[in-house]
Amino acid sequence: MTEQPKTPYDLPDVTGLSIGILGGTGDQGKGLARRFALAGHRVTIGSRRADRAQAAAEELAAGGDLPVSGAENPAAAGGSDVVIVAVPWDGHKATLESLRAELAGKVVVDCVNPLGFEKGKGAFALPVEEGSAAQQAAAVLPDSRVVAAFHHVSAKLLLDPEVDGMELDVLVLGDDREATDLVQALAGRIPGMRGVYGGRLHNAHQVEAFTANLISINRRYKAHAGLRVTDV
Ligand SMILES: NC(=O)c1ccc[n+]([C@@H]2O[C@H](COP(=O)([O-])OP(=O)(O)OC[C@H]3O[C@@H](n4cnc5c(N)ncnc54)[C@H](OP(=O)(O)O)[C@@H]3O)[C@@H](O)[C@H]2O)c1
Repeated sequence: MTEQPKTPYDLPDVTGLSIGILGGTGDQGKGLARRFALAGHRVTIGSRRADRAQAAAEELAAGGDLPVSGAENPAAAGGSDVVIVAVPWDGHKATLESLRAELAGKVVVDCVNPLGFEKGKGAFALPVEEGSAAQQAAAVLPDSRVVAAFHHVSAKLLLDPEVDGMELDVLVLGDDREATDLVQALAGRIPGMRGVYGGRLHNAHQVEAFTANLISINRRYKAHAGLRVTDV
């Protein structure tokens, strides 16, 4: 019997998975928290300070009856099924090193873009010793299942109450097929979004770096550009 080709829709049921977000008080983390809570996931916003996490959770929940709470990063990591890393590149390595125990055995989703900005030149990709932020996460967290995703998702659109759906494909990269399938399925929980497998972690650098191109597109066209992959 010939095997049917895999489609980006042949994915596990992720309903009921809880999500923790490290650095969830920033725009990207808060935006993802809002969309996943709207999709029915229990979300814990993580922060270095419990009061900031709780304030961010209350701000989100105020817009409706959303299942969002706030906690310090270790509790957000330890108490959730899946953990998203949404801290700035500067704090990436130290944050993950401090949470190795809490993140052991979990799917850890890294959306961090190591970028620099120069006046007159715009955004550009920074060199990373391990190859990419996602590979750094995998090196620091040998007992976690690291997946790279959500690099090109605009925080502004995620947070905009006027935006119901976000028409874009999320490239999902990783070395653990079960974990990338799960994260593709999570991307699909946000209306308009689709998760598409984009390769193994050693290909994460160019996906992270491509964000600099999207920022240039956004600046030129006053847009919030995303990607669509054709023919899949
Ligand atoms: N903004 C976007 O549109 C976008 C899109 C795709 C990907 N990303 C990626 O998502 C990540 C977060 O972006 P963002 O714009 O939300 O960033 P941000 O607002 O600058 O930071 C997010 C949160 O991280 C915490 N944080 C700040 N410095 C830290 C440090 N040194 N160590 C640990 N935690 C620290 C802060 O929370 P507490 O002070 O409460 O701990 C802050 O609210 C970035 O790596 C970015 O590349 C962003």
